[in-house]
Amino acid sequence: MSDLITHQLPADIEQRRDPYPWLDRLRRSGPVQRVELRGGGHAWMVTRYDDVMTATAHPSLSSDPRTPGSAASLSARPGGDGRRPPSMLTTDPPDHTRLRQLVSRAFTPRRVAALRPRVQQIADSLIDAVAPLGRADLVADFALPLPVAVICELLGVPFEDRGQFGRWSADMLSPPVAPAAAAAAEQARADLGGYLADLVVRKRAEPADDLLTALAAAGEENRLSDAELVGTAVLLLVAGHETTVSLIGTGTLLLLLHPDQLDRLRREPALLPSAVEEFLRYDGPVMLGVVRYAREDLHLAGTAIAAGETVVLSTGAANRDPGRFDRPDVLDIARAHNPHLALGHGLHYCLGAALARLEGQIAIGTLLRRLPALALAVNEEAVRRRPSVIRGLATLPVTFTPTA
Ligand code: HEM
Repeated sequence: MSDLITHQLPADIEQRRDPYPWLDRLRRSGPVQRVELRGGGHAWMVTRYDDVMTATAHPSLSSDPRTPGSAASLSARPGGDGRRPPSMLTTDPPDHTRLRQLVSRAFTPRRVAALRPRVQQIADSLIDAVAPLGRADLVADFALPLPVAVICELLGVPFEDRGQFGRWSADMLSPPVAPAAAAAAEQARADLGGYLADLVVRKRAEPADDLLTALAAAGEENRLSDAELVGTAVLLLVAGHETTVSLIGTGTLLLLLHPDQLDRLRREPALLPSAVEEFLRYDGPVMLGVVRYAREDLHLAGTAIAAGETVVLSTGAANRDPGRFDRPDVLDIARAHNPHLALGHGLHYCLGAALARLEGQIAIGTLLRRLPALALAVNEEAVRRRPSVIRGLATLPVTFTPTA
């Protein structure tokens, strides 16, 4: 049995330059630890690699926040969690299987590989705009617009609306530590849902060759409800942009903070795929972990968990587990065997994994090729995003040698 020490989740954990010593201490305290959350309530955090793997497939752990007895289900009320449109991320089989199947064809490695020339074109045009300037904010000028343009094109969402849904998405991902933040998140979810529902009506009137049109057609054939359709579109838009922005920003920052690794990648560009895997392992966007709810009383690594309790499978802690990774705190872009859990594991394994990898590799490869003498700006520090489900950067000021 693990002892019953309760840890406090630090308020600034996502914004720390290095949050891993805290996760390390948690892992050393025992495999499953009770953590008081910032907004009240508690969760059990699972920190060891093997236990996180086991827990992702545990039949008593659900992805559905409406699980009876869970904090989210208890707070379900009109306008609260109960109104959240369902998506594959927050459902279990058989609904999960049906919802995932409807979109999985758009994200197979083959379909995604076919996007390579277009992703490269977008990356190049973004760099064309900043190359003559000699300085840029790599988040606003590059890491953000690249995945947003790609997911908008895939879904068929007008790119000119991106400013609007970027704000909604940021509000939705803020932890609901204060009632105002929770209300803003609910409002943003409702606004984005409303925007996408209108767009679906337009796609039905004017079908196009995009994912939203395909989902609208599946809706008409009763393969998914209107709420599920909107939930799926919201999920893809948010998952498809926030996380990859963070991968590109953090990956670039890590290289600039580790000049030996940067030099090596310049000399051996064939290491790009393994470098991206290492960025995901070393400081992935879903740092704290993925959330599950206990469907019934269960034991996890010797710890009793009661029905309805929240369990966080800490992918960030698992990815630094010395029981699984050699020198886990060393950034090694040539790491040979890197079975990290940054993209999840099991049934809910990231549907956009191939796309995220493609975007990360093209983005970082293009930066290194096209911006000579890339360096952190001297008088301006990178700023981390406000606390959010996703860890990443709000700004990354850099300088480089201007080119025409
Ligand atoms: C699921 C991470 C990019 C779409 C997940 C999960 C993780 C994750 C950890 C598992 C959640 C769970 O088990 O509860 C990431 C990271 C990304 C990334 C780190 C970028 C570096 C993307 C992109 C898309 C996407 C580009 C789509 C365009 C999804 C979807 C799911 C998912 C739809 C739900 C899958 C399911 O429930 O079956 N992602 N993701 N992700 N991701 Fe990603």
